[in-house]
Amino acid sequence: MTMIPQLDNRIFEAVASAAAELNRPVYVIGGWVRDLLLERHSKDIDIVIEGSGIELAAKVAEKLGRRGRMTVYKNFGTAMLRHQTWQIEFVGARKESYRSDSRKPLVEDGSLSDDMHRRDFTINAMAISLNKNDFGRLLDPFNGKSDLEKKVIRTPLDPDITFSDDPLRMMRAIRFASQLDFSVDPECFGAIKKNAERIRIVSMERVMEEFNKIMLCRVPGYGIKMLRAAGLLRHFFPELDNMHGVEVVNGKAHKDNFYHTVQVLDNLALNSNDLWLRWAALLHDIAKPLTKRYDEKNGWTFYGHEFTGAKMVKRIFRQLKLPLNEKMKYVEKIVLLHLRPIALTEHVVTDSAVRRLLFDAGDDIDDLMMLCEADITSGNREKVKKYLENFQLVRKKLKDIEEKDRLRNWQPPVSGEDIMDAFKIPPGREVGLIKTAIREAVLDGKIPNEREAALQLMREEGEKLGLKGSG
Ligand code: CTP
Repeated sequence: MTMIPQLDNRIFEAVASAAAELNRPVYVIGGWVRDLLLERHSKDIDIVIEGSGIELAAKVAEKLGRRGRMTVYKNFGTAMLRHQTWQIEFVGARKESYRSDSRKPLVEDGSLSDDMHRRDFTINAMAISLNKNDFGRLLDPFNGKSDLEKKVIRTPLDPDITFSDDPLRMMRAIRFASQLDFSVDPECFGAIKKNAERIRIVSMERVMEEFNKIMLCRVPGYGIKMLRAAGLLRHFFPELDNMHGVEVVNGKAHKDNFYHTVQVLDNLALNSNDLWLRWAALLHDIAKPLTKRYDEKNGWTFYGHEFTGAKMVKRIFRQLKLPLNEKMKYVEKIVLLHLRPIALTEHVVTDSAVRRLLFDAGDDIDDLMMLCEADITSGNREKVKKYLENFQLVRKKLKDIEEKDRLRNWQPPVSGEDIMDAFKIPPGREVGLIKTAIREAVLDGKIPNEREAALQLMREEGEKLGLKGSG
């Protein structure tokens, strides 16, 4: 029997005394207990009572003097209480399983033991008693504590049963393994492989919630490789799964684009926690399978994969129920531009090419450079060193030109309004032509990025178009 000494929290005292008044056994269960043993301090507490969760929550709210911040979910028979930074969920112990494929889970009141049996993993099926006779005792019927020590994800019941009760748990198994750097028990992994197709009945939003948690891990590639190996990936993200494999023609093989992508993602994850930049890394080569060609002279090529890939982003985001907003636009943009800095590594690069990249990338230039550096996955240390040095030079060129020409968030030095005023013309084709001519001249370095020079060019271009200036 393990006693947990750290329950010196006012919340637990309030829960314990409320349950004692109701004369019902009560426990803290699930993620909070797991995290306590992992010495991670979670702010989400799940309380389970052999009785009514709502009734208990109301009593606890009264004791904590926070009645107003309680939310009741009548349909589920649960209640949630927010107290300071804590979020406490109250449920009655249940017999039936979670069912993510059905809107109305069939639930029946049960004992603590019933409730523990229907949980997803041994490490999530531990509870600590909040009852007077054994306050602080750890209840661990499936050896979750030992699995935490062994760093393994295992289900309390036959994994076939646990996963068919709720197929989302197959994703959760891999998500927890990635977050905690655990392995998935072989029998459990076998059951995922066997049941993988059932992930299709789970809503994409829930699948993505788990997938994005994997994306945000320290080493996201660990989980993504596991998703593929388990046969889950192809059911919700076939485009990524299809990147796997190597083709050989005339003894020449291309690299495996799946493993390359995963490595780029892991490289990038060392330097950025941004979910959407990580998505850009995941998708940067997504069109390689589609654009792959072999010819005698050049071997394997993937011409235009950045354009095709950028076009695929929206469809993939829609299919995966990811937001179709500025985050998607950002991913499209990074995918589209991901080869451009490489072109700037040549020794002789015109200022114009550098200016154009600054203009096109805007404020995302630093993210783009980060992705390009992560994209170097050669096993040859000398090569990696050389490529990184080349990118240092690109960074310097970008910095020099930016200091000189300030193109990062370029605003035209002469606006459409200015042009319309100067020639007394309405909006139309001519205004666009003059604006483009000014932009091109600035980017090509023909005129400085300044108002006077731009006004002068505006007059010249207007004249060419037969417009009469006002002075
Ligand atoms: N649970 C489950 N099956 C699910 C989801 C949840 O059995 N499909 C149980 C687990 O016992 C879990 C608890 O419900 O510990 C709470 O779930 P959740 O809040 O999703 O996860 P946590 O374990 O708290 O972890 P995290 O906060 O990292 O998601």
